[in-house]
Amino acid sequence: MKLGRLNHVGVATPSIEKSVAYYRDVMGATKIHEPFDLPAQGVKVCFVDTPGDGGTAGTQIELIEPYDQSSTITGFLAKNPAGGQHHMCYEVADIHEAKAWFEAKGARVLGEPRIGAHGTPIFFVHPKDMNGVLTEIMETPREGAH
Ligand code: CO
Repeated sequence: MKLGRLNHVGVATPSIEKSVAYYRDVMGATKIHEPFDLPAQGVKVCFVDTPGDGGTAGTQIELIEPYDQSSTITGFLAKNPAGGQHHMCYEVADIHEAKAWFEAKGARVLGEPRIGAHGTPIFFVHPKDMNGVLTEIMETPREGAH
């Protein structure tokens, strides 16, 4: 497998509204996308852009706020009430090839590839097999997608 760009860092938060104010007013972020719901995961998501170079998109921050008590983010916030870094997401060219690669390495892939927040297939790999980091693998969006 060839490692692609770091697409985003997932950050759990009890309040997307407060987190957006932090990234705008303290971190100086100028491009903050509209929040939207991901009903399959019971969460609201909001992407904050960091600048890329040469016209390519920079790595994003994915703010994640649960609205459903059964969401995995609800459990994370119970342990980390102020929120915190939740996962890292790397791009790959082919999601099925990447899944086979991680499985061949003995890493636990959590579920089947499914459509993620960018509209392309994603899966997660268990943090215990990834040096403690919950890792999301996503297929690189095609031209024109964000
Ligand atoms: Co993510």
